[in-house]
Amino acid sequence: MYVSRVLSGMRPTGRLHLGHYHGVLANWVRLQHEYPCLFFVADWHALTTSYDDPASIAENAHQMVIDWLAAGVDPQQATIFIQSKVPEHAELFLLLSMMTPQSWLERVPTYKDQQEKLSHKDLSTYGFLGYPLLQAADILIYRADKVPVGEDQLPHIEFAREIARRFNHLYGREPGFEEKAKEAVKKLGSKRARLYEELRVRYREKGEEDALKAAHALLEEASSLSLGDRERLFGYLEGSGKMILAEPEALLTHAARMPGLDGQKMSKSYNNTIALREEEETVRKKIRTMQTDPARVRRSDPGEPEKCPVWQFHKLYSEESIQGWVAQGCRAATIGCLECKEPVIDAVLRDLAPIRERARLYEEDPQLVRNIVADGCEKARKLAQETMRDVREAMGLDYS
Ligand code: TRP
Ligand code: SF4
Repeated sequence: MYVSRVLSGMRPTGRLHLGHYHGVLANWVRLQHEYPCLFFVADWHALTTSYDDPASIAENAHQMVIDWLAAGVDPQQATIFIQSKVPEHAELFLLLSMMTPQSWLERVPTYKDQQEKLSHKDLSTYGFLGYPLLQAADILIYRADKVPVGEDQLPHIEFAREIARRFNHLYGREPGFEEKAKEAVKKLGSKRARLYEELRVRYREKGEEDALKAAHALLEEASSLSLGDRERLFGYLEGSGKMILAEPEALLTHAARMPGLDGQKMSKSYNNTIALREEEETVRKKIRTMQTDPARVRRSDPGEPEKCPVWQFHKLYSEESIQGWVAQGCRAATIGCLECKEPVIDAVLRDLAPIRERARLYEEDPQLVRNIVADGCEKARKLAQETMRDVREAMGLDYS
């Protein structure tokens, strides 16, 4: 039986915050009980945008792994590793690059988006263009069929699927398959052959499911075909041959949006975060100084919770009874903002307490973290090497 495998990666960009926790890490922690999981530090990916500043990568990677462990990622359950310690990713990336149409990369929507968003950087590099292919190699090298990602990453997973399909199409078949398939097409008779070709192109190039169905029906009806030829034409249609690389599927993370201290989405670039290992006193201070509804200048001025970022936190953290107390007390000016923030402070501290508690062990013993990672790298590398053996063989590169 085939067992699903989960893989996901994160760029080492610095200390993780509550947004990462509720958006990604809590999900990883759940998944590790359900599937074999691989979680990796995408350090080469960090270079695609920060090639001019590689110095911080090592420390960021170390701290990020501590954040993962602190969040509850369990090295007994999940394999934690670092991309650059498994150089097979680069080999697969290289081999895949030979068969990747440049236009596929140029069409990935994040390409132009990110270039525009990060316009202060020169991202007209080969590595930046190729980054979705590196991500595809990350996934395909473990034959991971489930990839938990956020919405922004969906085009990359789709891209990886297309690459897997193309690879299997090119290298996963009997010798001379292409010729044999073309001969079989002729045997359909000229009218059917033309229709088959047309449907095939529509499915292969545009992914039209209707075309695939119609072509299947056409083949079912073609009674004069030998069994072998029929198989070939099904395979030729879908590009399936032997499956060497598995097509991954995105596991879209549905998490409540984590508000930042200013009410926008929590993000380092907005400078509105609460770090996972934030000091207790800093948490208090950050929340006490949060902006509230500007209408509440004096305590006697009524406010409107919907205009206040603190209310976003109550919606995420507080029970209904407290929410009622806030909504009423704010609108009637019977509670003060500092008072209103106290339950939020308590809730955030409660959220962070077990994380901070688990982190201590790893902070005090960096070698422990290194051992966990070294162990994970070794496991990951074994899996990657197995796939690479098959890939080299399929491409005829296993010669000496
Ligand atoms: N590109 C992802 C990001 O920026 C990180 C990443 C790299 C990744 N390789 C991956 C995620 C493979 C999932 C699977 O967030
Ligand atoms: Fe915001 Fe609470 Fe103050 Fe109302 S009382 S403005 S919800 S902090």
